[in-house]
Amino acid sequence: MSEILVKNATEIATTVGGIKRGGALKELYLIHGGSIYIKNGLIQSIGELDDFEHLIAGNPEIIDAAGMTVTPRFIDAHTHLVFAGTREDEFSMRIGGATYREIAERGGGIKKTVKDTRLASKTELVETAGAYLEHALRNGTTTMEVKSGYGLNLETELKMLEVVEELNQIQPVELIPTFLGAHAFPEDVSRDEYIQSILDMLPSVSGKAKFCDVFCEEGYFTIDESRAILEKAKEYGLSPRIHADQLTSNGGAKLAVEVGAVSVDHLEHVTDDEIEILAQSDTTAILLPGVSFFLNYGYPPARKIIDAGCITAIATDFNPGSCMCISMQMVMSIACTQMGMTPEEVLNASTINAAYSLGLTNVGSLETGKQAEVLIMDVPNYKMIPYFFGENHVNTVIKKGSVVWTR
Ligand code: NIG
Ligand code: FE
Repeated sequence: MSEILVKNATEIATTVGGIKRGGALKELYLIHGGSIYIKNGLIQSIGELDDFEHLIAGNPEIIDAAGMTVTPRFIDAHTHLVFAGTREDEFSMRIGGATYREIAERGGGIKKTVKDTRLASKTELVETAGAYLEHALRNGTTTMEVKSGYGLNLETELKMLEVVEELNQIQPVELIPTFLGAHAFPEDVSRDEYIQSILDMLPSVSGKAKFCDVFCEEGYFTIDESRAILEKAKEYGLSPRIHADQLTSNGGAKLAVEVGAVSVDHLEHVTDDEIEILAQSDTTAILLPGVSFFLNYGYPPARKIIDAGCITAIATDFNPGSCMCISMQMVMSIACTQMGMTPEEVLNASTINAAYSLGLTNVGSLETGKQAEVLIMDVPNYKMIPYFFGENHVNTVIKKGSVVWTR
């Protein structure tokens, strides 16, 4: 296993400690001119080199980080990475005034991607998703949640989860699978039959996924249907996540707390009452600024959500319909300019809080003893990351103590 000394960084910017709520989401620990010693996949020492130089026994690879900023790497806690085909025609239709819902009602949207994904082979899906992952990695994401949900039958849902399994064997971005059979209703079976068939899929997918998600929304899955699916999923060891309050306010956030969901995602239409309930819970609010930007509709009330004390994370929601963006840096910029989040908040929301929502405890910050998941960025301070937007500032990516990408 490689040994690395990241030396003389102009700035190291990291959170310390556990999850961040309320004002704590702004907390960052800054070291100027500091270094990080990495060995056996872990951060052995961080701080002034003089203080720990005597501990360096071997002959580590030296990375000179002068002029650069070192941060924890990004965790993208909500994606639909595996899909066939693209939907740029819908993009043009939306520019012409059609809404996401209207396009779905005309047979586009999720249904179009379901058709394409059912037809694609596992090898084709591994190739396309693998190519998207290369973009994610060089933009600084080394852990990603990935949902199924473009199959809507057992065969294709399993195929998608197996693609995730295979990708985990052949490339460095660590993928955490979620079963999203409840993403839409397929055209070939009745509504009741499909709800039953999701319940019937649970035993087969439970060994291949860590979480179960539901698109709880008017026209998709009702509160009662979502509750039934998520409660049953828990019996099979799948922790709940929910797409809620995206297009309408339907009480999905309240349901998330009721079923003990690890995350409730979207929240563009969350109510003040729901924010209060969420703030008292351990459910992470995952905001998806790229979706509001891409679909050109309202943003979630991030300030209210954070200030109320909700555990808050941000993610891309990478998918061909509502957010064709896989860059956490871009999402951080949008969160700052459009949702009033600060550069400190977006960094914590993309690292430590995102890790928490995925049940990962030994990552998300740069601290002695934690897994060495590190980004070296070509900017002199962390504020430059969202400020100089639309650019990829990543110079080097370290995953589990090894360099996995460098410019
Ligand atoms: O998170 N809201 C539901 N699912 C995705 C969109 C999927 C698609 O349009 O293909 C989302 O926005
Ligand atoms: Fe989504």
